Amino acid sequence: MSAIVVTGTDTEIGKTVVSAGLTAALNATYWKPVQSGQEDETDSQIVTRLSGRPALPEGYLLQLPASPHLSAEAEGVTIDLDTLTLPQVDGVLVAEGAGGVMVPLNREALFLDLFARWGAPVILCARTQLGTINHTLLSLQALRGAGCDVVGVVFIGEAETEVEETICQFGKVTHLGRLPIIDGLDQTTGAPDLGVGADQPDGRSEELIQAFTAHIDIDTIKKALQP
Ligand SMILES: Nc1ncnc2c1ncn2[C@@H]1O[C@H](COP(=O)(O)OP(=O)(O)O)[C@@H](O)[C@H]1O
Ligand SMILES: [Mg+2]
Repeated sequence: MSAIVVTGTDTEIGKTVVSAGLTAALNATYWKPVQSGQEDETDSQIVTRLSGRPALPEGYLLQLPASPHLSAEAEGVTIDLDTLTLPQVDGVLVAEGAGGVMVPLNREALFLDLFARWGAPVILCARTQLGTINHTLLSLQALRGAGCDVVGVVFIGEAETEVEETICQFGKVTHLGRLPIIDGLDQTTGAPDLGVGADQPDGRSEELIQAFTAHIDIDTIKKALQP
């Protein structure tokens, strides 16, 4: 079994969409160790919908849409890192963090501490929009400072070639590609129903999977997974 971590510079930047593309591309199993907040769909539900691949049950499924340590405390729960060991699966496990790399899990540990414990390679997702140089370089420094092995950065959004290059130059990090904006990923605006019997067995987003395969350096990611 091998595992890869998907994290990001912030919340709502596209980690779950990237995780879905990656889970499909690697025929992997998805796992969300801590889900805090479950308004419409959980990240596991989004990934299974978009990728057509299975998700394991979350390690902690918390109601309050807040930092995991606060969501847990609101329910009288303490997140115990010892319970968040990487689940064993056949093939590859894709594990998605919550929020950014320095989001607290409890009063002692941050997400990057969990990633470092796992020792699994980490993909950092970053926006291409204004502000991303600072957020991405800080996140890289924090991940490396914690001892994480960063495979590279996956960018999300419109092309900003000079910005992307600047990040990779200062961050001494591999550019793993840029996922463009793809319409129709949200449930309400999903792909049209082709009708009963149409070739749409699991409703996965072929558009996302094609874009992911075309734009993301899957070979480099696969190499990072080799023991
Ligand atoms: N490449 C993309 N194209 C179109 N919409 C995207 C893309 N990436 C993310 N989104 C949208 O942005 C929002 C946040 O993305 P999500 O993957 O859930 O972020 P995160 O996991 O970082 O919180 C969602 O509504 C999602 O559909
Ligand atoms: Mg997410």
